[in-house]
Amino acid sequence: MKESLFAFVRNSLLRAPWVYRTTQAVLATPIVRRFNQILASKGVTQDVSLNVLDVGCGPGDYSAWYMGRYTGLDLSKEYIHEASQKMPDRTFVVADATTFELTPRSFDVAVSIGLYHHLSDDMTVRSIERVLSHLKDDRDFHVFDAVLPRRFWVNPAGFVLRKMDRGQFVRTREQYVQLLERVGPSVIQTEFGRGGLLDFIYYVVRSPKRNASPGN
Ligand SMILES: C[S@@+](CC[C@H](N)C(=O)[O-])C[C@H]1O[C@@H](n2cnc3c(N)ncnc32)[C@H](O)[C@@H]1O
Repeated sequence: MKESLFAFVRNSLLRAPWVYRTTQAVLATPIVRRFNQILASKGVTQDVSLNVLDVGCGPGDYSAWYMGRYTGLDLSKEYIHEASQKMPDRTFVVADATTFELTPRSFDVAVSIGLYHHLSDDMTVRSIERVLSHLKDDRDFHVFDAVLPRRFWVNPAGFVLRKMDRGQFVRTREQYVQLLERVGPSVIQTEFGRGGLLDFIYYVVRSPKRNASPGN
């Protein structure tokens, strides 16, 4: 598909971590604060004993939230390079969220902020399955993502901002409900909200209780 001039310029600019960071600071601060509160209320950020996986971590700006051991993965070499330079005590890997291979069943908790509106439904389902296979039994994957207001007039500024997003799969609430039906009963919580101008979804997917040990 041919990229519009707008998309070309936007994508080229956002490839630079500092441009990405600046747009996030201007537009996303209220929503990001809300995500941090939710994770803190679930005990994800403060627990030093947790081994945390961050899927689609970008330039790693939120890695400082987590007191536990932290691994961030992202497809962007530029973002991961910068994150590794800035935070050498944390682990960052270039990897695709739909195919990555780390140690199976080794993480206590997984989080993802703003990744899945870049992935189609098929890729999202595949990625969630991969993440669950990397979680220990009965552990939670906390997902935060962009939501497109159903109609322009419901939230005009939020609607326009989401339409300008790099992600090609910014979903409405209804599209999210359909997607999560595909993920199935492992989705244990779903919540829609708004932070500043931006609508978001928060959902939690729980890994299964598997009795056999890894390798069996
Ligand atoms: C909106 S950014 C969010 C980054 C970070 N979580 C944050 O909130 O600052 C989306 C990120 O998803 C990454 N991404 C897109 N497709 C991906 C894929 N298939 N696998 C891993 N990361 C991907 C992009 O490189 C980008 O860093």
